[in-house]
Amino acid sequence: MVKEKVIILGAGIAGSQTALELAQDYDVHIFTKSDPLASNSALAQGGIAAAVHPDDEPLSHYRDTLIAGHFENNRKAVRLLVEEAPHIIEELHREGFIFDQTSKGKLLFGLEGAHSMPRILHAGGDQTGLLLTRFLHDHFPATVQFHQHEMATSILLDEYGHVAGIRTLTTKDGHCHFYHCDHLIIATGGIGQIFGSTSNDLSITGDGIAMAIQIGARVSDLSAIQFHPTLYFANGHAVGLVSEAVRGQGAVLVDQNDRRLMAEEHPLADLAPRDVVSSVLFRAQNAGCTIFLDISAVTDFETKFPQITAMLDKNQEPFRLTKKIPVQPGAHFLMGGISTNLSGQTSIPDLYAIGEAASTGVHGSNRLASNSLLEAFVFSKRAADQIKRTKVAYKKMAIIPKKTKGLQGTLPEKAVLQEKVRQALGIERSEKTLNDLLCFLATHSFLNCQVTNKDMLERRNMCILAAKMADNALVQLQRVETEMR
Ligand code: SIN
Repeated sequence: MVKEKVIILGAGIAGSQTALELAQDYDVHIFTKSDPLASNSALAQGGIAAAVHPDDEPLSHYRDTLIAGHFENNRKAVRLLVEEAPHIIEELHREGFIFDQTSKGKLLFGLEGAHSMPRILHAGGDQTGLLLTRFLHDHFPATVQFHQHEMATSILLDEYGHVAGIRTLTTKDGHCHFYHCDHLIIATGGIGQIFGSTSNDLSITGDGIAMAIQIGARVSDLSAIQFHPTLYFANGHAVGLVSEAVRGQGAVLVDQNDRRLMAEEHPLADLAPRDVVSSVLFRAQNAGCTIFLDISAVTDFETKFPQITAMLDKNQEPFRLTKKIPVQPGAHFLMGGISTNLSGQTSIPDLYAIGEAASTGVHGSNRLASNSLLEAFVFSKRAADQIKRTKVAYKKMAIIPKKTKGLQGTLPEKAVLQEKVRQALGIERSEKTLNDLLCFLATHSFLNCQVTNKDMLERRNMCILAAKMADNALVQLQRVETEMR
């Protein structure tokens, strides 16, 4: 019997886990526009939050998730997340994944911001995401077809408005291809690179979300961006993340005069929820402070954080001597995305979204630390289950749009767009800068631009997103103003 075909865009944890769930019964194709490990999943330093310590319980994890999310979370989604977490850990353990342990073989639990107790499981110190992503890729059976360096350029529908295929571009030679599919899963992550200063992988330009917008899929909370307080900065540029787990081990935020910046700001001080810490740092920066993470209280820094150590060494940062790391807040995570139900289904039949690309409402307005890898596992399994329950009743015929001639639009330079986005969609926003961004985008008429390579596609996708995000941020600003009247 011919198997139904599933296409998955994105090879991070959400996409890879779904591929594994479906590999036996479906013809599974997974696409990544870059290298297999170029994802935010592989960069994740913190770990996976799960109530598996004998003194912990899912209810406590539930409470912490809601408090961090300002109670704007979808509570049903949070309940699923925290209740599934121990099962995910148990399954990974059964399959042979090893989380860090004490010398006596007991699990080691890390602490991160806004958690009421240490509950973060990690691997290889700060390499959890990398090791988990590799682990999943290593388990792909030969039947999973892995298309690397091939970027989806558009989603194709059939005459009934159901997803029927994708168009792609092979990034090395610029050749275009068409693939039919019965089910399409977007797992392309968030939007970090739309900002210049971000913890995100270079490949994270919101492609999946932009393509979904193009076919009219419902999106939500697109301006709900989490800024991580501690991005390592060298020569004025964000280089990468310094995990919150470092503060969980006793590091504190100080200014150039060694004044503690968080001590008086929140009962949890340096381990306050991320949005609180980022706002305090943002204000301190505007007041002229230079910010450092003081790591003098962290024992065995290099053993606990080998990935961060390698990043600092690569940039010749003298942290061993100074015991300080220069940091600033930067874009980290998108709470919104393509609207889905709790089984990953979007408003377009046979289109699914999972992981950071999806908006289930699970994170509210501020994600709790180390809930993102957990989200990827929990909701990819649910999407796979939903696909197994959904039989495609007919042979789909994708409508291939005709090539449009005489397109006149232009695309902005990436750095110029990123700067406009930083001004408009940063930690503090105003109607003026948001409208400036929208006017800037309008001058380009970017949807009318002939795109012929990966760089142009990324820039077009970033423009599509920037416009939607600015619209959403304006609505949010107006809502707040109305509430305050
Ligand atoms: C971190 O390690 O600080 C980031 C973890 C996360 O985003 O949850």
